[in-house]
Amino acid sequence: MAALIVPRPIALVTTLGAEGVVNAAPFSLFNMVGEEPPLVMFSINKQADGVLKDTVRNIQRSHEFVVHIADQAMAQALHDCGHPFGPETSELDQTGLSTRPSAKVRVPSIAEAPVAFECVLHDTLESASRYVFFGRVIWLRTRPGLVDPSNLRVDLAQHSPPGRMGAGLYVKTEDVFPLHSTFAGESGVIERNDRRTST
Ligand SMILES: Cc1cc2nc3c(=O)[nH]c(=O)nc-3n(C[C@H](O)[C@H](O)[C@H](O)COP(=O)(O)O)c2cc1C
Repeated sequence: MAALIVPRPIALVTTLGAEGVVNAAPFSLFNMVGEEPPLVMFSINKQADGVLKDTVRNIQRSHEFVVHIADQAMAQALHDCGHPFGPETSELDQTGLSTRPSAKVRVPSIAEAPVAFECVLHDTLESASRYVFFGRVIWLRTRPGLVDPSNLRVDLAQHSPPGRMGAGLYVKTEDVFPLHSTFAGESGVIERNDRRTST
């Protein structure tokens, strides 16, 4: 199923361990849920040995996390953060990523990431195989130039996060193409080079 529903966006999630270790892990069963309130979700599987993933344990304890969107330059580090390091090891140290303080949560953010959504836990859905966490975004930080402050539009020419195709396969998202409705009049035409959009 997961290999058919592709490409998927990838959340690189930081959480804080009980001993203060900053944990980072990628999750591609991830999406935006809505804007009022601003919600994101991601889904974490239960492991066969019954041991909870670090991210699950940390969110259940602290109710806070930061969801990052990566860029192509971070792709290898993003992938390597998926390695099952123990709770005493920070994936950020292992992959050469660095932290910066977050604005509203105690969990640090990843300095290199172009987008960081600071979240508090809104709800948890538990199934036989998974924990699905819903995060309410209470603060958004973006790389300078990515969002035009005058109209809050994202400059998509500067935003090409890697997507997940399954297993160790990813997709680059630079190669976009415009479409306009066959049924729209002239006003419905999207300018060929205009990659800016509000949604
Ligand atoms: C790109 C990518 C996407 C992933 N997506 C998911 C996912 O959606 N759900 C999940 O449970 N594990 C996913 N994984 C595996 C976790 O990242 C992996 O189990 C990780 O070690 C969990 O880290 P933690 O124990 O520090 O929370 C993904 C791995 C990669 C590389």
